[in-house]
Amino acid sequence: MKNNSLYEIQGLDLRDVCEQFGTPLYVYDADVIKQKFNQFRNAFKGVDHRIMFAVKSCTNISIMKYMRFLGAGIDTVSVPEIKMGLRAGFKPNEIVFTPNVVEFSEIKEAVALGVPVNIENIQNLEAFGQEFNDQYPVCIRLNPNMLSEIESGRASFLDFTSINKEHYQDVGEERVAAWHNQSKFGISLIEFDKVMEIVNRYKIKINGLHLHSSHVILNKEVFAKGVQTIFEIAKQFEHLEYVDLGGGIMVKHHPDDKVIELDDIGRILQKEYEIFCTSLGRKIKIWFEPGRFLMSEAGYLLTKAVVLKTNGFINFVGTNTGFNHLLRPMMYDAYHDIVNISNFTGDSEKYNIVGNLCEIDNLGTERSLDKVRQDDILMIKNAGAYGFSMSSNYNTRPKPAEVLIINSKAELIRKRENFEDLIRNQVELEF
Ligand code: LLP
Repeated sequence: MKNNSLYEIQGLDLRDVCEQFGTPLYVYDADVIKQKFNQFRNAFKGVDHRIMFAVKSCTNISIMKYMRFLGAGIDTVSVPEIKMGLRAGFKPNEIVFTPNVVEFSEIKEAVALGVPVNIENIQNLEAFGQEFNDQYPVCIRLNPNMLSEIESGRASFLDFTSINKEHYQDVGEERVAAWHNQSKFGISLIEFDKVMEIVNRYKIKINGLHLHSSHVILNKEVFAKGVQTIFEIAKQFEHLEYVDLGGGIMVKHHPDDKVIELDDIGRILQKEYEIFCTSLGRKIKIWFEPGRFLMSEAGYLLTKAVVLKTNGFINFVGTNTGFNHLLRPMMYDAYHDIVNISNFTGDSEKYNIVGNLCEIDNLGTERSLDKVRQDDILMIKNAGAYGFSMSSNYNTRPKPAEVLIINSKAELIRKRENFEDLIRNQVELEF
């Protein structure tokens, strides 16, 4: 049975889009981005907030411009990301620089570009004080993981390891979670005395506190405690203008996935925010840095089934993409739904859908798909976040093109790479 919603976006048949632009192809649906943006906005309408799109999740200048059109700022993690944001039309104060373990020279560049900066280690905080003292307000990123050691009363809050295991679904949380006690992110609260000593010594104006929640905010109670903690700490900073809660809101990849209701955490935050602002006697802003929430479900990787083969046990669908284009299944064991959009017989078969790289390269194993024939187009879902942006040229294969479907038109937003692109920066020696 045909179901148009499977292969149509804004009335465009994705198979025609593939015909026009070739495969593999990243396709983003502007309507979904907008819908997710509005959903986010709505969930947090009770607090004075800003949405800073985490551009690392989908680093395309046209996507940045679309986010700007919707009313977002951006969260950047490298100087080139800042420069791309400026080129996309964001004003410096609409960009936040949240790098991780970078040389101080990068922070100086960000300051020279005039963007708000987020500092996440003592070394750079000291260097910042020396260089800028009270001349450039700055935000610090904290990691609450060590709270038990300085405030034993809240030890239960720290049991992140079990929380992570229980709530972790598909993204290799051990590798990306930000609050657990193995985390390299942020300044641990165990170093908080040092923070205050440096801040006081150089009279640094701390105008923001940052706590990237990562996937722990799959759990409402943990979210509430995290917010209470940061507000408690925030009282000590007289120049505070905002609290940045980072990103990390999960989205469904599999129908059985549990995700947090944004409206629920919106209500929790509103309550804590009102208590905090009342005790402070003034309002501050709340910043968020969502990437995945805005982009994951808005993007698809479309690929062609090029080789069908069996080893006697498993039927393989060999595609013209691989982990060079979508790393998440191999890197995090992430589940990405895969649909055959060229055949709707309803006769499904079980396949392992594999990539074309010369090593184990699974996109999805033991999946039931409508019978796959050579040249059928497969749609890999949840590919809008950390899809293209984590792609590579491994096996000397070009990166795919990217298309944004907007106003029922398919607009090319990145050309497909070609051989020249692959060789451009190589320096050829003659022997
Ligand atoms: N803010 C900060 C400081 C972050 O480190 C991140 C993500 C975000 C915001 C955006 O988080 P999101 O809302 O997109 O979850 N490559 C991995 C994800 C790594 C996330 C790293 N930090 C993946 O494919 O799942």
